[in-house]
Amino acid sequence: MQVIRRKVDTGNKESAECESEEPKENISRATKVPKKGIRWTILLPFIFFGAIAGFFLPLEPSGPNHLAVRPFKADLLCRLSQFQGEHAGRMLWGTYRPGLYLGMQTRHPRPLVSGLMWFDPDRPQPLDNIRHLAQERDGLQKYGWEAHDGESFGRQELYDGNIHITTSFAKRFCRGCTGGDWALRVNSEVNNASMSQAPQRISVIFYIADSQAGKSVVDILPQGASTGAGVQLAAGVSELLGGWAVHMHDLSGQGRSAPKLRYLGVQRAHFHNLTDTLADEMAEPVDLDAPAKRRGGGGGRRERHQLSNSMEDAPNLALFQLTAELPLSVDFVFTGSLPKGQGAFEGVAKAVSDMWRSIGALRRTISYCVPQLPLSKPTEALPQRVAALSGSALTQLLKEREADFDAHFTKTFGAFAPGSPKGTEVVAKAALSNTLGGIGYFFGASEVRLADQGDRIVRSWRAALFTAVPSRSFFPRGFIWDEGFHQLLIRRWNERLSRDILAHWLDLLSEEGWIAREQILGEEARARVPAEFIVQSPQVANPPTLFLALADMAQRVAAAGAEEGRDPGVQEDLDFLTAAYPRIEAWFGWFQRTQAGQLPGTFRWRGRGTAPEWDTELNRKTFASGLDDYPRASHPSSAERHVDLYCWMSLASRALASIGSSIRVAPEKVAPVQELHAQLSNAAFLDQMHLDRAAQQYRDWGNHTEAVDMQWVESRTPEGYVVGRSYVRVVGQPPPRPQLVPHFGYVGLFPLLLRMLPADSPQLSAMLAQLRDPDHLWTDAGLRSLSRASSLYNKYNTQHDAPYWRAPIWMNVNYLALAALKHYSQVPGASQELAGRIHDELRRNILRNVVQQYHTTGYLWENYRDESGRGQGSHPFTGWTALVVPIAGETYFEI
Ligand SMILES: *[C@@H]1O[C@H](CO)[C@@H](O)[C@H](O)[C@H]1NC(C)=O
Ligand SMILES: *[C@@H]1O[C@H](CO)[C@@H](O)[C@H](O)[C@H]1NC(C)=O
Ligand SMILES: *[C@@H]1O[C@H](CO)[C@@H](O)[C@H](O)[C@H]1NC(C)=O
Repeated sequence: MQVIRRKVDTGNKESAECESEEPKENISRATKVPKKGIRWTILLPFIFFGAIAGFFLPLEPSGPNHLAVRPFKADLLCRLSQFQGEHAGRMLWGTYRPGLYLGMQTRHPRPLVSGLMWFDPDRPQPLDNIRHLAQERDGLQKYGWEAHDGESFGRQELYDGNIHITTSFAKRFCRGCTGGDWALRVNSEVNNASMSQAPQRISVIFYIADSQAGKSVVDILPQGASTGAGVQLAAGVSELLGGWAVHMHDLSGQGRSAPKLRYLGVQRAHFHNLTDTLADEMAEPVDLDAPAKRRGGGGGRRERHQLSNSMEDAPNLALFQLTAELPLSVDFVFTGSLPKGQGAFEGVAKAVSDMWRSIGALRRTISYCVPQLPLSKPTEALPQRVAALSGSALTQLLKEREADFDAHFTKTFGAFAPGSPKGTEVVAKAALSNTLGGIGYFFGASEVRLADQGDRIVRSWRAALFTAVPSRSFFPRGFIWDEGFHQLLIRRWNERLSRDILAHWLDLLSEEGWIAREQILGEEARARVPAEFIVQSPQVANPPTLFLALADMAQRVAAAGAEEGRDPGVQEDLDFLTAAYPRIEAWFGWFQRTQAGQLPGTFRWRGRGTAPEWDTELNRKTFASGLDDYPRASHPSSAERHVDLYCWMSLASRALASIGSSIRVAPEKVAPVQELHAQLSNAAFLDQMHLDRAAQQYRDWGNHTEAVDMQWVESRTPEGYVVGRSYVRVVGQPPPRPQLVPHFGYVGLFPLLLRMLPADSPQLSAMLAQLRDPDHLWTDAGLRSLSRASSLYNKYNTQHDAPYWRAPIWMNVNYLALAALKHYSQVPGASQELAGRIHDELRRNILRNVVQQYHTTGYLWENYRDESGRGQGSHPFTGWTALVVPIAGETYFEI
């Protein structure tokens, strides 16, 4: 057995660490590996004084003095007891790096991370084609989780040219195995046997790292002793899990030459550019026969694109490379809570960690949660734990977990209602699974532009976000507009998981009551965002879709009433809403204050600007609304009022009032909220502000003219020489004047979508007729975003800015429409029967198209073309497009 030792830290490091900026509320169980021969007791005084110093030193750099970038003053929801203990342990590890094809990490601000890369060593320039980040330019024919329970199991299929890879993972908990053990099975085979003549090779790289570079070390044991079930690859000691180890178990079978295993240990503080790190490391040919010591060396066979079998001092990142002919099948098994064979170590680690915990309880200045998990001695021996998660035992476990997944799926979404096309179930399972497999954990600070401080850009407080993402390849981060829709699906599947996500979002509330619409937390998230979209503005809102999930929760609590022995889930909803109420109220208050229109009771999205330099856009975008280029008044002004925001506010006020009464806050506190809701849901007032009676359409109000066009305009010198050409907006006659803005599409549907119209309203039947009209919104694949009759239908906004919400079919709004149609089909009224008919027809159209597109293209898409139903935009986009699952199951939400 060859063991390569990292540099050994001394105890001095401990006290030095405490002066760093890094908060240390849980610097636990000795991040140090004791050097042989040094007794632990020598370190104790250092650890003790370090701890004391850490307690008195400031924890977080004090943030800028602005309400928008300071956390809201209330207990953090992530600290609710339902998210502690067993739940925290169960959810510690997961596929929480959704921006990668396969990435695992702990839900911790200073996580352990792991990931997978692969490349074809025989193609030209293999290092330019390392697969790691999920990205569209890799051109995979298809990939995504086809089964994933959001917790302890998943199976993903990836089709990359001639290579078909299956990645499966499973977690397993033995008693005392803090955070659980997990296994990742990587199975690769030839995708299309008839195509490849020569044997197809693959290079697979598995890595594991402790993100605390310089503070943690990883041992690498490439030719380690067999433990019976596999080879130990690496071991380390982490802040949270104590000793840990990773084992490998090659399944490739007899008669084949074993895959070549190579390794590299390096110290890295950055994890957003690991692909580059690997490419750099593999650029030089290495000597395959050199003893495993240091790079280069002379003599033997040299080959490129191989890890060098070497180690830097104190590495925190270990990479392992397997190169072989297909098929290649291998299990990687992670085990934590290991004593490292040193009893004293375990005892000291526990004492230190307990001390930190009791100090941690006193420290309230940190505005994020760190899992608090007890360390105890596992009941199973290590070889047993590894064996249970590899080879045939793992095969069996994966089979069982997939059967459980299927059973829970059928139980939750039912046998799909009539009118679901063939192949729906496969698509629905993939949609759900990739949503759950797209849940990520992010940690960091937002960048915020303070308009009232001369546009100074500052960093917000550091926070953690646990969230689903719209698209693993294109939008691997949190978006609040999408998240409410994601929860309509996730809540059906696993209520506590959904509450956990909602808790993280509501914990991002600023003291002012604002939540940034896009959350770009941490280096990995930032690396995927173009610079111009990073900075967030505390004047700008986004649809408060979380109220959809909160309203659903409140409904359920109200329905359960005060009955004894109610469902524990209802109790957790109730506890959650009770703790969340001050935050929800403050968030709602922020909308009311900052997004008010000029007339009382009306609302306006901020962020369109009012300066006259919009002549580069046909219609100034309204990013805040989430419907970016959906046309609004041609000339932005403070007199505008937006009908979609009005409806969101009505929905939010209803949810707030219903939460208020279901958690039984004092009646005098709920009364004003109820009054407000009564005012906002007053259909007569809505009509007065937004209804065009002649057209029978709900519209925005603003300074508007239809006479706008984009033209090439030449700019000339005073002498008349042409010096440039630009594509600008030209305004003709008549000039803009205040009026109801004559566009019809998703925005005008909001009174229907959010069920604000009384069932006997004449507007309801008029709207249903226009929605069903192919000259307006109806297509064979769903409702298009803008009426064909609109002057900006399918128009580019600039030379290069293609129509986005000006024709394409989007699943979130179609889902709202279906839920509303179902609702109106169930309440007596003149439109009852029509609503039911349109619901069934629309549902059939949407399912037929999305299912067919998935089967032909391999993906769910960001949106669908209105003319052909073809998927377009980013992919896979399993965010709100995954609402096909509740659409197929007709499991709509209550508001
Ligand atoms: C496999 O290769 C054959 C021959 O090139 C081709 O016709 C077929 O479409 C391929 N199948 C897949 C699934 O790629
Ligand atoms: C990764 O990013 C860090 C920080 O931006 C940088 O210092 C480092 O050189 C980068 N590494 C590679 C290999 O690009
Ligand atoms: C409408 O916009 C035009 C052009 O910017 C401006 O001259 C006019 O004053 C605006 N009208 C109102 C009522 O704001």
